[in-house]
Amino acid sequence: PKGLLRAVQEEHEYLLTLSNNHVASAAQFERPLLTQLFRLAAKYEANPDRFATPMKPLSGKLLISAFYEPSTRTRLSFESAWHRLGGDIMSITDRSTTGIAKGESLSDVAEMFNNYGDCVVLRDNAESSVMEMMNSLRIPIINAGNGMDEHPTQALADLYAIMKWKPELLEEEPENKIRIGIVGVPSRMRTVRSLLTLLSRFSKSFEEVVVIHDDKDGDIWAPEQKENLVREGLRIRETNDLNAELPELDVVYINAIAWVEDGFEVMGESLKLDENSPLKEGSIILHPLARGEELSTSLDSTPHNWYFAQARGAVFMRMALLTCIVQRTGMVMDVV
Ligand code: CP
Repeated sequence: PKGLLRAVQEEHEYLLTLSNNHVASAAQFERPLLTQLFRLAAKYEANPDRFATPMKPLSGKLLISAFYEPSTRTRLSFESAWHRLGGDIMSITDRSTTGIAKGESLSDVAEMFNNYGDCVVLRDNAESSVMEMMNSLRIPIINAGNGMDEHPTQALADLYAIMKWKPELLEEEPENKIRIGIVGVPSRMRTVRSLLTLLSRFSKSFEEVVVIHDDKDGDIWAPEQKENLVREGLRIRETNDLNAELPELDVVYINAIAWVEDGFEVMGESLKLDENSPLKEGSIILHPLARGEELSTSLDSTPHNWYFAQARGAVFMRMALLTCIVQRTGMVMDVV
């Protein structure tokens, strides 16, 4: 992340605005805050031992890690981030082991969480759970994916990967704008929805956002979703011809799995990337993972593979976020 460290300004007052705040939606993150978060993440990534381990900014703090829907990356990277910052963790991976199975309300569970921890990270297939718990929580809660709605911290990790790849995009008017293709359905994929919101914060950095889908049934946009992004300045085009776009795309973001109620659906089955795809030289592929057949493992050993770096960077991005939300205000200044 050296380029990113060089590219950003020295100001960090925006980080302090996160202190003790909930994270429900990507819409909470404005451009200056994102820039400062990326810088802090880059500091952690450049030297995690120097900036995290000796200082242990979350020493004595307890995370309640509640994942009621399967997760590899989000849960483990949040827990890894928390551990690296010196805190301790209580983990719930099955809601049926809690009072929810006996009909206990989410507001009562939230009231108990207030007594037992300092922060909650929640993944729940019910879209409303984060908001319901927020009303009773006096400790911060972070949305780690709520049904088809949002996955704001994944979007932070996604955009952090793009900014590490091309730090000049953080500038208001970068000399070379990029073209990004998003293979997915914005109305039904939480990762795509949250990422598009964050991209709109840097709309002057993107020549075009091409949404690529093979959906024939319904509207690929939620009500007002596209209008809001266009109002923020994003230039959006839609197509179903992935291969026709690939030679012009600098970043290809692909995802096929969407969590719908109690199971996952695979979307965009005709849209696949493999070693024979006509990818632009120097372009990168991002994927929030887990992947299916849409992303061939034959691309893993090519320079287009930025999806593993994206997943690795998520730890440092989450360290930055947790530092700002949970620990004492003054220590953010020590870390930055
Ligand atoms: N990207 C992501 O949300 O992965 P997990 O489902 O493994 O957490």
